[in-house]
Amino acid sequence: MSDAAPEKRLYIKTYGCQMNVYDSERMADVLRPLGYGLTDAPDEADLVVLNTCHIREKATEKVYSELGQIKRLKAAKADAGAAMLVAVAGCVAQAEGAEIRRRQPAVDIVVGPQSYHRLPELIARAHRAAGETLAADFAPEEKFDALPTARAPDGVTAFLTVQEGCDKFCSFCVVPYTRGAEFSRPAAAIEAEARALASRGVREVTLLGQNVNAYDDGGSGLAALVRRLARVPGLDRIRYTTSHPRDMDEALIAAHADVEQLMPYLHLPVQAGSDRVLKAMNRGHTAEHYLRLVERVRAARPDIALSGDFIVGFPGEREADFEATLQLVREVRYASAFSFKYSRRPGTPAAAMQGQVADEVKAERLERLQGLLGEQQQAFNRAQVGCVLPVLLEKPGRREGQIAGRSPYLQAVHCEGDLGLIGQVAPVRISSAGANSLAGELAAVATA
Ligand code: 5AD
Ligand code: SF4
Repeated sequence: MSDAAPEKRLYIKTYGCQMNVYDSERMADVLRPLGYGLTDAPDEADLVVLNTCHIREKATEKVYSELGQIKRLKAAKADAGAAMLVAVAGCVAQAEGAEIRRRQPAVDIVVGPQSYHRLPELIARAHRAAGETLAADFAPEEKFDALPTARAPDGVTAFLTVQEGCDKFCSFCVVPYTRGAEFSRPAAAIEAEARALASRGVREVTLLGQNVNAYDDGGSGLAALVRRLARVPGLDRIRYTTSHPRDMDEALIAAHADVEQLMPYLHLPVQAGSDRVLKAMNRGHTAEHYLRLVERVRAARPDIALSGDFIVGFPGEREADFEATLQLVREVRYASAFSFKYSRRPGTPAAAMQGQVADEVKAERLERLQGLLGEQQQAFNRAQVGCVLPVLLEKPGRREGQIAGRSPYLQAVHCEGDLGLIGQVAPVRISSAGANSLAGELAAVATA
C-alpha cells in the first residue's frame, strides 16, 4: 500500500520558541505515515499547519492575518478542484480554542500542545468531513487489521459483510485510517445475499464488520437486521463479529434472549482492565462499564460464550494496570480470547506516547494472561462434557470416518459420522474436551 500512496504535501509554519520548532518536527513525524511529506510552498500544500506562539503582543492578530492569506490559497486550490486542510496548533490554539474557527471558517483543525497525540485522528476526521479518503501509509499486519476470511470452503457457513470502517480511533489502531468511516450496507441488499447463500446450502452466516454492532441502516440497527435474517428460510444460525462495547445496545441484547437463530456467542473486545489504560487507548468505556454490559448480556442469555481481544504492554501500562486486566478476565470468565503484545504502529497516537514497555515485560505479561485465558477456555470446554449440543456439521473430520462442525458456542466438535450429514444440525453427546475442540458421538441421526 505504501508504494502506491500518492504523497500529500505538508506545509508547517513555526512561530516562536525552540519548543515549537521541536513540536513541529514531531507533528511532521506523526503525519508522515498518513502520507504527508514536507513542502516549503504553502500554495501547493494539502495541509497547512500554523504552529503558533502567544508570547509576544499582537501574536494572535498576526495569526489571523496569516490565516486570511491562507484562506485565499485554500480558495484558489478549491477552484482548481483540490482540497487544502488548515490546522492551527500551538499556544494560540490553546488560548483561543474554538474562537479561531468561528473567526476564520477556513480553519479545519485547532489543536493545542496537549493534544498533538490526537493529530492523526483530527486529520483523518477532517478528511472525512471534506469527503476525502486518506492515503495512509500503514504497513498492514494481518492479525490486527484484517477481517476474518472464509473458514469453511465447503459452503455450509459463510461470511457476509454488513458494515465496514471505524469511527472509534483507539489510539493503538490503524483501522480508522486505512478503512475510513463507518459505513453500513443496506439491509435489503444483505437479505438478498443471505437468501442467495441459503439457497446454495449455507446454513450459517456470520455478519462481518469492523464495528458490526454500529450497523445502522437509516436508523435501523444490527438487532433489526438479525431479526430480518432470522426469517430467511434455511438459515439456521446467525453470528456477528466484531462488536464494540459502546455500540452494544438494548435491542441487540434483547435479540440474544429471543432470536433462536442468533447463536450464544459474543466477541466483545475490552483490550485492557485498567481505566487508566483504557483512557489512554481512547476506548470510550471503563472496566466497570464493560463488566455491567457483560452482566446484562448474561441476564438475557445466561449460557452465552464470551470472547475478547486483549493488548498487553500498552504504553504506560504498569504492573498494577496489568493485574487489573487479569482481574477483569477472572470476573468475566471467557470461553475464548485473542491476546497480543502491544505493537507500535507509527502514525497512530500511541506510537508517540511516553512509557513504551520493554519487550521482555510484554512477553512475560502475555504469557501470564494467556495462561489464565487458556485455563478458562479449558474450563468452558470441559463444562460441556456429558451435554448434548446441536452441532452444525460442516466438513469431513481429520480422521477417516469423522465429521466436524461447530457447537452453538463456536467450539470445534468432531464425531464419527457419515459425510452425508454435512449441512445438518445434529445432536452430539460430548464425551471429551481438549484445549481447542470437543469430541462426541451423534446422539441421534436426523431424519429427512
Ligand atoms: N498492537 C497490538 N494489538 C493490536 N490490535 C490492533 N492494533 C494493535 C496494536 N497496535 C488488536 C486489538 C484488536 C485486534 C483485532 O487486534 O486487540 O481488537
Ligand atoms: Fe481499531 Fe477496533 Fe478500536 Fe476501531 S474499535 S479503532 S477497529 S480496535
